[in-house]
Formats: sequence, structure tokens, C-alpha cells
Amino acid sequence: MLSSSRIKEFHSIRSQAMDKLIDRLRAEAKANGGVVSVLKNARFAVFCILLRMCFGIEMDEETIEKMDLITKNVLITLDPRIDDFLPILRPFFGKQRKRALQVRKQQVENITPFIQQRRVAIRNPGSNNSAMRFSYLDTLFDLKIWSNPEKFDPDRFYLGKEDADITGVTMVKMIPFGAGRRICPGLTMATVHIHLMLARMVQEFEWTAYPPNSDIDFSGKFEFTVVMSNTLKSRIKPRGDTR
Ligand code: HEM
Repeated sequence: MLSSSRIKEFHSIRSQAMDKLIDRLRAEAKANGGVVSVLKNARFAVFCILLRMCFGIEMDEETIEKMDLITKNVLITLDPRIDDFLPILRPFFGKQRKRALQVRKQQVENITPFIQQRRVAIRNPGSNNSAMRFSYLDTLFDLKIWSNPEKFDPDRFYLGKEDADITGVTMVKMIPFGAGRRICPGLTMATVHIHLMLARMVQEFEWTAYPPNSDIDFSGKFEFTVVMSNTLKSRIKPRGDTR
């Protein structure tokens, strides 16, 4: 799924997502005197691509935003807690457990219909014009790609018993994707997306600080990963627009 040939295959999806990103930035800038939220729009664009690659079917913008929100809620809510390791403490975490179950239910209810849609699309070729030729979900439907797929067998990856590419890097100065055996397998794809997104955003707009002449506020908060406490805003102007 993350190989360069597969990544190439999703070229048209990336193009569409970048067009949507630019349209959204343009609309937001127009409505807010040039000021835009950077992360919100970049997240949307990346989600457009990842959802299409994952589910292989088209989703409207509202659904994409909803899926993003659900995924974010799952990540934030299902962070490991002390009672996961010490079940004796469970009674003290009733509220958190209830919230986790709610979020999980919401996730299942919202995502299952898309899994069904994809299943129908691949069982009936030609029935859904927007269906991609290949999606990540397909690999999960095809249990034959693993030997003994139902068995919990961590040893399956040892000694070439199962084909699984585990790459690592040697020297690093900065490790945004981790390193070694657990390095992020999405590295190539993620860098393609980041380069593409930056290129399109800079190609279309001139970017300046907002509030004007302010420094970037690097203070962070923990939200599954560390994110900016005050999300980045910027003022943009379409290139060639002399106003
Ligand atoms: C800018 C985007 C991304 C960043 C900064 C990032 C960063 C990371 C980091 C730091 C890790 C932990 C590595 C470690 O434990 O040493 C990781 C793991 C992982 N990432 Fe990413 N990632 C990105 C995008 C993606 C994408 C697009 C995918 C898949 C489509 C992906 C899939 C994964 C998976 C499956 C793991 C777990 C690997 C494992 O534990 O063996 N990531 N990522």
C-alpha cells in the first residue's frame, strides 16, 4: 500500500485534494480578510487523500470532516490509562471508560457503512464509478495474503516465514518519523504529501504572519502528539493579486 508504485497510482486523488485545499484556503481568506487556519486546511487535504486510499470510495467534504473528527476523538480518548495495566483501579475510571465506549460506538457506527460500500464495490466491478482500483481495505478483506490469518502468531515475521519489509535508518539528527525497526512506514507517502501541499500553497498564495509582524508561538500541548497550543494562523494573498 505504501510502496512507491502504489503511491503513484493515487496521483489523481492527490491532485483533487490539492485543488480542494487551494479552494478552501481561497474561500476562507476571502471571508476573513485574508486570514486562514493552516493546520485545519492541511489536515483536511491529507484526510481527503488518506480516506480515499484507505476506503477506495469517494466521500463528500462533510463526511471527510466527520471522519477526521471521529479519528481524532478516538486517538485522544483511547490513550492508554493506568487502569489498562492495573485493572484493580477500574472503579476509579468509570467516567473515562464510559466515554471511551461511546467514542468507540460512534467510530464503529460511522465507519462500518463505508467498509460495506467498498465490499459491495469490489464484489460488483463497475457498480461504483468512483471506486478506486485498489484500496487499503482490500488487503484486509483478502485474508489469504497471510498464512493462518486468524492465529495470533507474532513469530510469523521471523526468519522470512512471512514477507514483511522491516527497514531502518542508521544516523539521524532529527527523527520526525522515528527510527529503526519501528520507523513510520508512511514516511515516503507523508513526505510526498507535505512537499506537494507546501508547493501548491506557496505557488498559489503569498504568506505573511498573522497577527502582522508577530513571531510564531511555539508553545505546545499534548493531544496524542504534541500540537501547537495556539494553532497557526496566517494571512494569505493570491499571487499576482496587486490589491
Ligand atoms: C507527517 C506525517 C507523519 C509523521 C510525522 C509520522 C510519524 C510517525 C512516528 C514518529 C512514528 C513512531 C515511530 C517509532 O516508534 O519509532 C510513526 C509510526 C507509524 N506511522 Fe507515521 N507518521 C506520519 C504519517 C504516516 C502515514 C501517512 C501513515 C500511513 C498511511 C503512517 C503510519 C504509521 C504506522 C503504521 C506507524 C506504526 C509503526 C510501528 O509501530 O511499527 N504514518 N509515525
